[in-house]
Amino acid sequence: MGCPQREFLCKVLVVGDYGVGKTSIIQRYVHNIYSQCYRATIGVDFALKIVNWNADTVVRLQLWDIAGQERFGHMTRLYYREAVGALVVCDLGRAATLDSVQRWKEDLDSKVSLQNGKPIPAILLGNKCDQSLPDSSAKNLEGMCQELGFSDFHLTSAKDNVNIDEAISCLIKEMIANEEDSEPAKDPNVIQPSLSPLRIRYERCCS
Ligand code: GTP
Ligand code: MG
Repeated sequence: MGCPQREFLCKVLVVGDYGVGKTSIIQRYVHNIYSQCYRATIGVDFALKIVNWNADTVVRLQLWDIAGQERFGHMTRLYYREAVGALVVCDLGRAATLDSVQRWKEDLDSKVSLQNGKPIPAILLGNKCDQSLPDSSAKNLEGMCQELGFSDFHLTSAKDNVNIDEAISCLIKEMIANEEDSEPAKDPNVIQPSLSPLRIRYERCCS
């Protein structure tokens, strides 16, 4: 087997109202488990997943599971620092959580951005699609995705494991593309600003 040539460390924020399924999505993605009982996240939780993206790329995803009840609290600015991607989650069965999506997106964009000043890529997840839903759900999400500047949207279910890998792969693709764009120029006469620890990209020795 070949040895990966490059490794990306990506800090990803997972935000959205309380109870929409952020922790469940992360648990499903990282450990492939699901629980029906609701235990509200307090503050922030972390999960790490190492993704063998392709033959020469490994992605270390650091998932920051922000409590919905922290909503727009003072702490979120600290939590958001150095993030290079985000998942904004709503519950398709609770209209109020869809209404909050705009505020979560604005909160993200006002507190964190890429080094080039652009917003970090964010994917919109309409979770709990296993429940019976009005036909308009996907349309609503599509509209919000375009209006609010999300990279993409997905209808997901942590319960039935629907579209979670797809949604996160979509985010990984965006994050890798941004890292590649922000590669320092090769001119040795130009002093490059150092990369922040969470955005570091390094070559692995394959001896
Ligand atoms: P906070 O930590 O308070 O911000 O909530 P959260 O967004 O982390 O929600 P959590 O993952 O704890 O899920 C809340 C409840 O919704 C739990 O009872 C889950 O079992 C349930 N739930 C999560 N995902 C799904 C899903 O895809 N389908 C269904 N039917 N229920 C889900
Ligand atoms: Mg939680």
